[in-house]
Amino acid sequence: MAHVGDTVTPVREASGSEELRDAAEVARAALTLDSGEGPALVDRLANPPAGRRWTALVIDGGVVMASVSAKDPAIGHIDLLAVHPEVRGRGHGRELVRAAEEWLRSAGARQARFAGNPPCYAWPGIDVRYTAAACLAESLGYERYHVAWNMTADLGADLSVEEEPARLAEAGVSVHAAATDRDLATDRKRADRERVVAFVREHWNENWAWEAANAAGLHYAERDGRILGFAAWGARPAWFGPMGTAPEARGLGVGGVLLRRCLAEMRAAGLSSAQIGWVGPLRFYSRAVGARAERVFWLYRRDLA
Ligand SMILES: CC(C)(COP(=O)(O)OP(=O)(O)OC[C@H]1O[C@@H](n2cnc3c(N)ncnc32)[C@H](O)[C@@H]1OP(=O)(O)O)[C@@H](O)C(=O)NCCC(=O)NCCS
Repeated sequence: MAHVGDTVTPVREASGSEELRDAAEVARAALTLDSGEGPALVDRLANPPAGRRWTALVIDGGVVMASVSAKDPAIGHIDLLAVHPEVRGRGHGRELVRAAEEWLRSAGARQARFAGNPPCYAWPGIDVRYTAAACLAESLGYERYHVAWNMTADLGADLSVEEEPARLAEAGVSVHAAATDRDLATDRKRADRERVVAFVREHWNENWAWEAANAAGLHYAERDGRILGFAAWGARPAWFGPMGTAPEARGLGVGGVLLRRCLAEMRAAGLSSAQIGWVGPLRFYSRAVGARAERVFWLYRRDLA
């Protein structure tokens, strides 16, 4: 691996699960705005959908993860960058980004982005409060080209869904939890989830279908055996989304009920607030559960010569 600047520690590809585990601990220590999620993010990025090439490059006390998808091979993504607080300011971050760019170039990418590679991502871009990372990107010549944001819903709020299901039942609509990895015990439950995933693929796209299949919680509504809407959480660890209601069923209140069921499950999993990732319809979430826009991400890009 080429060295850049005056640092001497070589950047190397993480080999094996032990080095990835060390990298996960670096991520835990560095990613202070993502309360303890560092290891889950490394694990998620290390298990992406088929058709994606990825790498984890490490230096003592630092890690960068990068990926290129088969469907858009000219675009390279820097998915995660973390340097342990004890070894910051020594050029590790810069060296890791340069090494990631080199890997992306060799994988055929013509542009590098600090931007999430859906459906398997840690953030849409750089959280503006990880200001050092934004400064690093800018000092390396990256252009800020887009803004994205999350919304936050307090889970202390009333999330009861007692009245709406009764109203939906009058319209012939029932709501259910689909099985997830935790409880895929029977063939019937597996078939149940596959049906929801197929619905998501038909109405939206393969990315959302992957997120539904990899969710920690997946809820759906149906009428006469036809699925009408779904909501998922945990595909991006600890975040809510995606969700969608089929055009024929919009306006019935299906989305609001499914959203609240997911949020109640997130609360039961120990979260005190839920991040609704990469929004999306501000007004829907604001009105349905009083969510507010909160985390803001800058997306950066740079052409690779
Ligand atoms: C961003 C991060 C990886 C930088 O790592 P580092 O090893 O300290 O960075 P380097 O020593 O290589 O510094 C390179 C450049 O980063 C920027 N930078 C680093 N620390 C900075 C700070 N405290 N304030 C502002 N800019 C800073 C500067 O542009 C610096 O170059 P310059 O001083 O010549 O301008 C590190 O601060 C980190 O892990 N932060 C938390 C995780 C994070 O933000 N990850 C990105 C999430 S999208």
